[in-house]
Amino acid sequence: MEILMVGSECTPFIKTGGLADVLGSLPQALKEQGDDVRIVLPKYQEISDEWKSQMKPLLELNVTLGWRNQYAGVEYIEQNGITVYFIDNEYYFKRSNLYGYGDEAERFVFFNRAVMEMIKALDWTPDVIHCHDWQSGLIPVFLHTHYKDDPIFESMKTVFTIHNLKYQGIFSEAVLYDLMELDERLLTPEGLEFFGDINFMKGALNFADRITTVSETYAKEIQTPYYGENLDGVLRSKSDRMIGIVNGINIKDYDPMKDEALAFPYRSSLTKKCHNKLWLQKELGLPVRSDVPMISIVSRLVEQKGFDLIARIIDELLATEDIQLVVLGTGEYDYEQMFQWAQSKYPTKMSANILFSESFSRQVYAASDMFLMPSRFEPCGIGQLIALRYLAVPIVRETGGLADTVQPYNEQTGEGNGFTFTNYNAHDMLFTIRRALEFYQDKELWKPLIKNITKSQFPWKYSARRYREVYAQAME
Ligand code: GLC
Repeated sequence: MEILMVGSECTPFIKTGGLADVLGSLPQALKEQGDDVRIVLPKYQEISDEWKSQMKPLLELNVTLGWRNQYAGVEYIEQNGITVYFIDNEYYFKRSNLYGYGDEAERFVFFNRAVMEMIKALDWTPDVIHCHDWQSGLIPVFLHTHYKDDPIFESMKTVFTIHNLKYQGIFSEAVLYDLMELDERLLTPEGLEFFGDINFMKGALNFADRITTVSETYAKEIQTPYYGENLDGVLRSKSDRMIGIVNGINIKDYDPMKDEALAFPYRSSLTKKCHNKLWLQKELGLPVRSDVPMISIVSRLVEQKGFDLIARIIDELLATEDIQLVVLGTGEYDYEQMFQWAQSKYPTKMSANILFSESFSRQVYAASDMFLMPSRFEPCGIGQLIALRYLAVPIVRETGGLADTVQPYNEQTGEGNGFTFTNYNAHDMLFTIRRALEFYQDKELWKPLIKNITKSQFPWKYSARRYREVYAQAME
């Protein structure tokens, strides 16, 4: 099959969140199963000069945006046998951030329209366009409107993946007329209309041939009002064409045996893993002790990830337990402050690292005994998958992809790969952390748990197979 992936970020070029990891690894897995997969992204200013210097010019396009004509250059890179196209327009993408501008609608209408024009001009016709999140949500809409009579697009199908329903791309209806060049026929609930505005994600849900999201549980959750972000009704009406497919990780890249960031490689030996803890303790100025359990958090510090629960109990946790808590990430000011405050109050127990670094994150996963991720909602989650790979026992709330990838450890049956709690409640979480700490003290209980973890891994190949089924269904 020939697949074109469209998205707004992709590792190793540009990343702000988990979407970039998926676009950076799923195509490779599909390619290994025989597909011709290509990717298209905006050419942002933040992409490093090293990458930019490798881009080769390919096409020059005219993109209409209402009364305006805009230039779009197309450049490309071959990366591990996959062609990655970049849409170049300095006015829209030569800016210091990826998102958050006043003309966001215009930037992404332009991007989507430019991708359509690129497909027209390329000497390659994808069977399926696989779009990710609202930034590429207009492709299915354009395919059924501006381009519907164009023979090039006649048999082309679309698959749309929701990575996070919270971000939808909601703009005023003027965008529909002035920038998208569409009319009031699309301003209906079956089109893009959303409480008097227009909604890119809703357009994608209405027009895509197949909808996927990044875990089975999240696929069910978003059909309910609590998780549905006001689109649960639309999603319920599309349930026959929607499925959840859990994300994988690139296990060659995330491999504690080969990870260049680590001072002490290991794969299943806890003794070798422990050297990484001692190493990190020294680096961070924490007491160097092999017996103290290290719990880590590697995350964007935002509400979604459950930090209000941590805020409730952090003082109690650090005051009463003999642990080390290591946090790595940036985000909302209040949460950054909370961890810094905890570090100043408990300097031997808490290490707040308000920054993000890929290699540092790998050192933290390798060093930690447990990994805490108490999300309020979590479409899939990647942190827990990396934690499993680095043998850090996940402690998670049972929601979305966390529920699908972490099963509670049951010492009677010997099953399970982590610790979980159900209600979004700080003391349920604290109780679960304490349960994990008790187990940690008992080697007879901890060892079988680690053994289970070595067997519950999430390489992409299984999920890639399921995507291929979805592509095939779309093409039927
Ligand atoms: C978003 C979701 C996260 C998911 C990622 C990749 O960042 O919040 O749960 O893992 O997308 O699909």
